[in-house]
Amino acid sequence: MKRRIFCCVLCFLMVFLTGCGAGGVKVKLPAQEEVTSKTLQDVFGEHGMKVGTCISPYMISQANTEKLILAQFNSITMENNMKPDYVLNQERSQAEGHLVVEYQGDTLKILQWAKTHHLAMRGHTMIWYSQTPEWIFHEGFNTQGAYVDRDEMLLRMEDLIRGTFEELERLGYLDLFYAFDVVNEAWMEDGSLRPTLWSEIIGEDYLWYAFYYADQYAPESIDLYYNDYNAVYKAAALVKMAQSLVDEGGRSLIDGIGLQAHLFTADDLTKYFAAVDQLAETGLKLELTEIDVGLGKYQSAQYPSDTNLRTQGRFFYELIGGLFERADAGRINMDAITFWGFSDGLSWRKEYSPQLYDEELNPKYALYGAMQIKEYAGY
Ligand code: GLA
Repeated sequence: MKRRIFCCVLCFLMVFLTGCGAGGVKVKLPAQEEVTSKTLQDVFGEHGMKVGTCISPYMISQANTEKLILAQFNSITMENNMKPDYVLNQERSQAEGHLVVEYQGDTLKILQWAKTHHLAMRGHTMIWYSQTPEWIFHEGFNTQGAYVDRDEMLLRMEDLIRGTFEELERLGYLDLFYAFDVVNEAWMEDGSLRPTLWSEIIGEDYLWYAFYYADQYAPESIDLYYNDYNAVYKAAALVKMAQSLVDEGGRSLIDGIGLQAHLFTADDLTKYFAAVDQLAETGLKLELTEIDVGLGKYQSAQYPSDTNLRTQGRFFYELIGGLFERADAGRINMDAITFWGFSDGLSWRKEYSPQLYDEELNPKYALYGAMQIKEYAGY
């Protein structure tokens, strides 16, 4: 019992010291309408950019989150529902003898919702090592079978990519898309290619084939992206990759590089912008595709105290401001920026409080930072 009480006191002290003591209690900021007549869409639009969020089925099923999304954002990316795990049909692949893409359930619901509300979409994602069913790599589309060979895997990759665009066209949603993540997270921080079943079965040129097929089957209006995190470490490898993704005539097969931007307030923005500038030299479009900025660093999340939230607000102000500045000066070609959600309560990294609004959808310094309203950005 004594020990329990001791633990409780200790916990209280820790929260007090890291929270209020070290940074002041959380302050409620004025509502967005009181601070500005603009929405996120207005602010980003002034710099020629769409502004996006990721979407889950839950977010569009609740009146308050749906209302916020429609007011603030004009582009969406499905958080999960277009990943290979969600769109590949094993039974039909076995019956038809080729890899079958079929959208169902929540994927269709979100597509229809986006169409009804005239939202632009990013497709996410086709070729990835994660959230991809293991059976697509095996003979008979069955994990009991041996791994297929390179030629068969190339056919399956082509089916996946062609099938995606055909399915979207068949269902009448292809026109919503302006960008597509063809390959996600293929590189490691040391500049080597991530070992995956795609690279092991096909070989290192699997990246080239992915863009070759995407270029062949996607309409011109859809920009084809490579998407990854840790840009600071991977920039050199991405520049090299971009130069290699050309067809026999030297034409580029890739249109853009997506920087996920799962960042932390402890990150060095000068280094981040150095990576952005290095990537801009490829001449490709750039988009920050999954922004969230956690409090603290990966190994140690910080408490959402006023001090820490202010630091986050300033980080968002500088990050988005630096991008606007570069875009306005023509130094980067960026037509959209996407946040990986909007509410701390619905974020995949909620322990780091990384978003623009808190769990009750109150604005944070982060929101006003992103909107370039310095007075409320934590300065
Ligand atoms: C990566 C992926 C996203 C998502 C996040 C976690 O960034 O690209 O699709 O899975 O991890 O939400």
